[in-house]
Amino acid sequence: MCGIVGYVGARESQPVLLAGLARLEYRGYDSAGIAVVDDAGKIEMRKRAGKLAVLREDLEAHPMPDGHTGIGHTRWATHGGPTDENAHPHLADDDRLALIHNGIIENFSELKADLIAEGYTFRSETDSEVAAHLVGREYRATGDLRTAFRNVVNRLEGAFTLLAVHQDEPGVVVGARRNSPLVIGLGEGENFLGSDVAAFVEYTRSALAVGQDQIVAITPDAVEITDFAGNPAEAEPFEVSWDAAAAEKGGWSSFMAKEVSEEPEAVANTIRGRIHDGVISVPELEGMDDLFRDINRIIITACGTAAYAGQVGKYAIEQWTRVPVDVELAHEFRYRDPVIDEHTLIVSISQSGETMDTLMAVKYAREHGAKTLSICNTQGATIPRESDGVVYTHAGPEVAVASTKAFVAQITALQLFALHVGRVRGTVSAAEAAEHARELESLPAKISQVLENEQAHIEQLAHWMADTRSVLFLGRNVGFPIAMEGALKLKELAYIHAEGFAAGELKHGPIALIEPGQPVFVLVPSPRHSALLHSKVVSNIQEIRARGARVIVIAEEGDAAVLPFADEVLRIPLAEPLFEPILSVVPLHIFAMGLATAKGLDVDQPRNLAKSVTVE
Ligand code: G6P
Repeated sequence: MCGIVGYVGARESQPVLLAGLARLEYRGYDSAGIAVVDDAGKIEMRKRAGKLAVLREDLEAHPMPDGHTGIGHTRWATHGGPTDENAHPHLADDDRLALIHNGIIENFSELKADLIAEGYTFRSETDSEVAAHLVGREYRATGDLRTAFRNVVNRLEGAFTLLAVHQDEPGVVVGARRNSPLVIGLGEGENFLGSDVAAFVEYTRSALAVGQDQIVAITPDAVEITDFAGNPAEAEPFEVSWDAAAAEKGGWSSFMAKEVSEEPEAVANTIRGRIHDGVISVPELEGMDDLFRDINRIIITACGTAAYAGQVGKYAIEQWTRVPVDVELAHEFRYRDPVIDEHTLIVSISQSGETMDTLMAVKYAREHGAKTLSICNTQGATIPRESDGVVYTHAGPEVAVASTKAFVAQITALQLFALHVGRVRGTVSAAEAAEHARELESLPAKISQVLENEQAHIEQLAHWMADTRSVLFLGRNVGFPIAMEGALKLKELAYIHAEGFAAGELKHGPIALIEPGQPVFVLVPSPRHSALLHSKVVSNIQEIRARGARVIVIAEEGDAAVLPFADEVLRIPLAEPLFEPILSVVPLHIFAMGLATAKGLDVDQPRNLAKSVTVE
C-alpha cells in the first residue's frame, strides 16, 4: 500500500527512482511522483495521477533537471482521491523540502487544524501533507533534517514510513518508520531506501531491515540509524536470496502469467532443503518442539488469498497433529475478545509480511500471551520479525497484485509445518510422514502436468465466457476453500460477481441463484479416498444441472462418474486428498486470468486493489 524509494549516490537519481517505483507499483498505482535535489541544489518535483507510465511520459515530454539524491512514491489512495495534488511528494518549507509517506496518520485532522491556525496552507487533502509541514517547520527551527524528524515522529499516531529530502542537505535522505515497512539497500558509494527490497535489488542484494520506531539517514557512504529519541540503534542485516531477473516479466505477457507458470517451482522451492530421504525437517522450526508439544490450540490468521490457504491448512494440521485449528480473518480477530493464552499458537500467513490487519492480529496475540509463528514469502518483512518463529515460503517475488504462486507455496508450507508438528507430537508415524513427503515431492511435476494439459483448454473456455456476469464455485472439504479462492480471483481480476460455496450448503439457499445457463465450477473430490464424499458432490452436480446450470467440473483423471453431468471437464492428476487443493486451484487461477485477459483487463494491476495492504 504505497511504495516508497529513496536514493543517494553517484548515479543520476531519476532512472533509479523510476526503476524502483516500477518494481513497487504492485503496492498501489493511483499516482506516482518523484523529487530530487538537483545539481544546482534545488528541489525538483514531478507527480501525476494515474499509473507510473503517466509520470514517465510526462518526464519524457518535459524533462526535469536531475541530481544524485531523490525520493519516489507510488500511491494507493486513502485520504483524498487519486489526483495530481494528492499525489506524493508533498512540498513544505517554501518548497525546499519534499516528503513522501506510506501509511495513515490517524490524528492528522487535529494536527492539520493546528497548522492551519498557524497560517499554513494545504495543497492536498492527504494526511501526509501534515507530516511534510511539521517536518518543514521543525527544519526551520533546527536546520537539521534528522532532528526535525525526531521532533515530529512522536506526534504522529497511526502507521507511517516517511522519507524526506531537503535542498539545504543535498546528499542525505532521511526516513522513519512505525508500523509500515522500510528497508535499506547497501551499495558501494551509494545507498537506497525502499518499502521492500524490490526497490533496489537491481543494484544490491545486501540489505538492512529498519526496526519499528527507528529513524534512518542515508548518505552515499554511510547509514545512520537511531530510535525516535535519537539513541543509536541497529537494523537487522540480511541478503536478498533472489536476483533482479526474478522480478522481471521475462517475455511473459503479464507478471501473473509468469507467476502462474511458476507455481510448480514455488512448491518445489518451498520443499527444498526441508525433506531429506522422506524425513521432514524444517530447520526454522527446530528448537520449537517444546512449544509444539505444549500447545492445545492453533489459530490461523490471515487475509484474502492467504486466509484461504489457511483454511486448507486447517484440514492438514488437524488431521496430522490432532490439535484443533480455527481460521480467523485477521481484521476480525482482535476486535472481539478471543480466547487465547500461552498454550495457543497463532499461525499468521502473509505473502508480503506487511499486511497491517495481519500484523496487528499478531501483535495482539503476543500481547495476550500466545505464541506466534508466521508463514511469509518476504525476507526482512515486519510480520516475521514480530513473530516468535517463521517458515518462509520460497515462491520468489510475486509482483501481480492478486496472489497465485504464493498461495500454493503457503499451502505447502502449512503441510510441512503440520507434518513436523505431527512427528513431534507423535500423531504421525515416520512411515506416514515419509509417504506424505513423497507425495509433496511429486506435486511440482503434477502442477506442470495441469498447466501443460489444461491451460489452452481453460483459456478457450474463458474466452467463450467473456460476457459472463456471474460464476459460482462449489467444493466440499478441502475443495471448499479452493472454491472461495476461485471466486475471489475472478472478482479481483475480471470484476465478475462470483461466489464460492460449500457444496452441501447449496440446498440451504444458494441453489436459488441457479437459473438456466448459470456457470458453476465444481471441485470434485477423489472417489478413491471417500466414495461417500464423491457421491455427495456428484449428487450436488445433478441438482444444479437439473436447474439448467452450465457445469464445469474439476476432477481427477479417470473419474468417469462426472462425465454424464458435466459440460466441461478439467482434469488434475491423482493426489492424496489433503494435497489435492494444490492441483485443483491451478485451473481456477488460469481461468480467472484468462477471463480478465479476454475482457481486455490489466491482470497485474486490477482496479482499486493493492498487493500489500498496509492500512487497516
Ligand atoms: C491483498 C491482496 C491479496 C492478498 C491479501 C493478503 O488484499 O490484494 O491478493 O491475498 O492482500 O496479502 P498478504 O501479503 O498478507 O498475503
